[in-house]
Amino acid sequence: SSVSSGEGWNNHVEMGLWADAMIVAPATANTLAKMATGICDNAVQAVYLSARCPVFFAPAMDLDMWQHPTTQGNVERLISFGNHMIPVGFGELASGLTGEGRMAEPEDIVTFLDNFFDKEQKLSGKKILITAGPTYEKIDPVRFIGNYSSGKMGIALANEAADNGAQVYLVLGPTHLTTDHPGVEVINVTTAVEMRDNSVRLFPDCDAGILAAAVADYRPKAYAEQKIKKNDQDFTIELVENPDIAKELGQSKKADQLLVGFALETQSEEANAKAKIKKKNFDFIVLNSLNDKGAGFGYDTNKISIIGKDNKIKNFELKSKTEVAGDIIDELANRLEG
Ligand code: PMT
Repeated sequence: SSVSSGEGWNNHVEMGLWADAMIVAPATANTLAKMATGICDNAVQAVYLSARCPVFFAPAMDLDMWQHPTTQGNVERLISFGNHMIPVGFGELASGLTGEGRMAEPEDIVTFLDNFFDKEQKLSGKKILITAGPTYEKIDPVRFIGNYSSGKMGIALANEAADNGAQVYLVLGPTHLTTDHPGVEVINVTTAVEMRDNSVRLFPDCDAGILAAAVADYRPKAYAEQKIKKNDQDFTIELVENPDIAKELGQSKKADQLLVGFALETQSEEANAKAKIKKKNFDFIVLNSLNDKGAGFGYDTNKISIIGKDNKIKNFELKSKTEVAGDIIDELANRLEG
């Protein structure tokens, strides 16, 4: 490779900046692991770390290696960073076994790239605020009140909006996931108050807001500076109301701004979601229910309904959160145009 050809130490940087796309195919378990953790001991990894262009990877390995939790965890991280996976195929593998893990056919890789680059830049010139992840409300230096949000849904939305040309502010609660998509500015926060302050600061400059965060409605009234000691009695934490970010943005919203909410429900899903549209002045709401298998917190998939102000409902199948984000961004882009 030219990196080792003696032309200079920084050729990987030049390549990373020069390319319009980087394709890693076949992406072995080893290569995926290095990409996911930043190990930089060869030219591919050095170029990958320097690349500012969209990166595509086409995994190829034996079925058990593909299914291994380490591999799946690495793929999850790479997708959350904003890289694009070209799905593996099913069939006969080099080992003679049959299963998932075959590299996508070269023609399919080309088609994937064609579709990606043909994609209209539906949100070009638009600025979008997205909230994602949980909030942690501090009790004392070692404890907090939180929830199970992983941030995956909101990160997928941020990557999808940026792929469509938007400039994205992602206000992200505490999670191990993030993105390094060049179109996304990540603002890391911990508490609902911090999430509110950043959202209120950024929203006036935006064309739309998408509120995918699971925000704690309450926080402890007092923060104990020292670790609270156990004694032999029951213990009560007094809670006070947190700011309702959605409601505040809904009230301040200008005529040309759109606001999209989420509703995570466990019962009377539609009725609760419709009430939230009114209460928070959303243009539409994305409903997901904890009663649907594979939907909601943590999963790589989600099953949503989009409900408009006019109470019209569009139901979608269970899909990857990346595909769900595509459906939501389509809806937003149509409404921003219309
Ligand atoms: O992060 P993942 O693991 O991928 O999971 C995704 C998700 C389930 C968290 C996501 O899809 C989702 O449903 N997010 C909203 C969860 C929620 O808290 O909904 P809610 O019904 O409590 O709130 C309604 C809306 O008001 C939401 O848009 C919420 O962001 C917003 N809100 C709520 C309370 C508050 N204090 N401020 C807010 O802005």
